Amino acid sequence: MDVFRRKQVADLLKETSPLKRTLRTWDLIFLGIGAIIGTGIFVLTGKGALTAGPALSISFLIAAICCGFAGLCYAEFASLAPVSGSAYTYSYIAFGEIIAFIIGWDLILEYALGAATVSVGWSGYLVSLLADFGIHIPTVLTAAAGTTPGVSTYFNLPAFLIVLAITWLISVGINQTKRVNDTMVIIKLIVIVLFIICTIWFIKPSNWHPFSPYGSYSFHNGTAAGVIPAASVVFFSFIGFDSVSSSAEETINPSKTLPRGILLSLLISTLLYIIMTLIMTGVVKYTVFTKYLNAPILAVLHETGQTWLSIIVSVGAILGMTTVILVQLYGQSRISYSMARDGLFPEFFGHINKKYQTPFKGTWFFGTLAALAGGFINLNILSELVNVGTLTAFILVSAGVLVMRYRQPDLHRGFKAPGLPVTPIIAILFCIMLILGLNWETWVRFIIWFTFGLLIYFGYSKRHSKLNQ
Ligand code: ALA
Repeated sequence: MDVFRRKQVADLLKETSPLKRTLRTWDLIFLGIGAIIGTGIFVLTGKGALTAGPALSISFLIAAICCGFAGLCYAEFASLAPVSGSAYTYSYIAFGEIIAFIIGWDLILEYALGAATVSVGWSGYLVSLLADFGIHIPTVLTAAAGTTPGVSTYFNLPAFLIVLAITWLISVGINQTKRVNDTMVIIKLIVIVLFIICTIWFIKPSNWHPFSPYGSYSFHNGTAAGVIPAASVVFFSFIGFDSVSSSAEETINPSKTLPRGILLSLLISTLLYIIMTLIMTGVVKYTVFTKYLNAPILAVLHETGQTWLSIIVSVGAILGMTTVILVQLYGQSRISYSMARDGLFPEFFGHINKKYQTPFKGTWFFGTLAALAGGFINLNILSELVNVGTLTAFILVSAGVLVMRYRQPDLHRGFKAPGLPVTPIIAILFCIMLILGLNWETWVRFIIWFTFGLLIYFGYSKRHSKLNQ
């Protein structure tokens, strides 16, 4: 059937423009951490702690294991087809066009809505930092409607503006340079280590009892609670490691460097996350986070009387989240560009601006969409949608690795995921478990999004596909 027409690895490799190979393992680790550490740890830990209690650290571990197995699959695919386009391109090779389209469509959730989600986290820290200096943005403009019960809010102005500002940067071709990224990553790491060193002394082990008040999965006040639902929420904290695989074409010896970059950046983030969440739930009772959902880290600093540190941490968090937004909006503009180049999206998205040499229109289209989403939609709805979209992409990438091993075992793979077929199967099972831990409303929203995507595929993309001609 022509909806399953596939691209060939050899053709893809011919299409790639030779880029200079300069990146080594440490560069990739920095790239990964730059994309990974953001709103997940700085903001979603509040909701996570309320959902799982002190066992939140176990939730982080579960999400990390899921990403580790999926990461091995990403690494194999990246070494098989070291071309841009990430999961979208991989599935064009493994499954064919319609699945590739669906993944590309899902990646809009991961990247554009991801950027919107991080912008909301960014805004929370900015608002509280400004308040420390006596500057108050009108409350109605600090969050989407219905975000905080009993407080009237309409629109998240800071979130809206930061996404537009970064969209502008990307659209005129100022991409994140390695120097800027490395600086931000170092600031982010210093702030986290400082937080750990200054607060670890205030842990009261009694706060860890009961460790897992809601068990692994239960219902509490009508919503899912426990370790697994919390893992489904904080999964967001690990999104971004897949961006490492997108630099396959610029990596020295990608077959060894890529998997190391992906796995080590995941490992470092996981260690930091687990230490931080143990401290957070050890210093304050997890129920206290109800009052600090926008900036839960600050709850700990207020509790320990280290208000001076809260300013430093807020600045670090704001800078750190800025790079995450940048990586995601950049990823979005390149995915929609690839899809337009393949004819699956209208030319509008693939049009390269002569002056800036960027897909200017497409960048602004998705940037504006993300800015509006950040302005109008609340963080929980956004982050869960991002998670379901990303988890679906992980499932397809993992399945793709299996399919390709059996279909084209002789293709050159610089890196082979160990333990096939078990590794991708574990990744898929973990992803399914995390999808099940999300709210049912999220599933419904995702199904609507998915259906809308299929309508576009059959209404437009199938006929306009370059493979059709
Ligand atoms: N993992 C990224 C974050 O937590 C998306 O902000």
